Amino acid sequence: MVRQTAYMQQEDSPTPAALRERMPRSLFTQAVHYIPVLGSTNSYAKELAKRGEAEGALVITEEQTGGKGRLGRQWHSPSGANLLFSVLFRPPFSIDRVFSLTMLTSVSLVDAIREATGLRALIKWPNDIYCNGKKTAGILTEFSADSRGIEYVVVGTGLNVNWDMRGRSELERIATSLMNEAGHPVSRVALLSRVLEALEGYYKRLLGGEGEAIRERWNRHSMVIGQEALIDSQGEMKRATAMGIDRNGALLIEEDGGKTSSVICGDVQVLFPSLPGNRV
Ligand code: BTN
Repeated sequence: MVRQTAYMQQEDSPTPAALRERMPRSLFTQAVHYIPVLGSTNSYAKELAKRGEAEGALVITEEQTGGKGRLGRQWHSPSGANLLFSVLFRPPFSIDRVFSLTMLTSVSLVDAIREATGLRALIKWPNDIYCNGKKTAGILTEFSADSRGIEYVVVGTGLNVNWDMRGRSELERIATSLMNEAGHPVSRVALLSRVLEALEGYYKRLLGGEGEAIRERWNRHSMVIGQEALIDSQGEMKRATAMGIDRNGALLIEEDGGKTSSVICGDVQVLFPSLPGNRV
């Protein structure tokens, strides 16, 4: 377990009361499950979903004993320093659009980080948020569906907020926190409120048929679009230029020779990163 109590500020804990005070009518503050120590907020939210919990339920913790990342990886976060939360959706669309919720969460995180810190957060397909070339947040989308459609989708986010990563040589090379990039601690309550506000707005727009505008926003804030990259698509490596994402969140790529295709699941490594300035 990673501990870092120095940044554990009681008054900045993302509790149900603190969130409801800021957003009394939000879809995401009607059922807030704040549990200081949990295995995984995603697993907890999935259990709630199986027991019939309504859309909008929010699970938050200060510390996970079994935090999960994509592709069976672990997600580490010191107690009380960061944001660890999962949101339950019951979207009225078919399974092929499930990753549009990852897309909504990414643009919501980018908006909120930019507003709260002035940092130029960028999206790395499929599920990461980067600041200054280093991973700052990860999203894990899990769902259950059958022939009738989607039963539930749980979108979990781990966002490094006030974790001081300096001096942790292995981690510092590839990951960062908002505090380390902005140069000051960031209020977790204010940040989470902003993320959820943005998420609710985008979700309503998606359901109202405005998915195209959100997709354009995703493309605008992407760090892979227009770049030459190595794409690992379920073990098959391709060198290609990332062109954008489609409405379902799949990455559109163009290989040397002009062949285009879409990648639903995989990882991208930009070959010659050209990063814009750190600040908006
Ligand atoms: C990744 O980058 O691979 C995704 C990381 C997702 C981590 C978050 S932390 C909150 C939620 N609960 C989990 O167990 N995982 C997600």
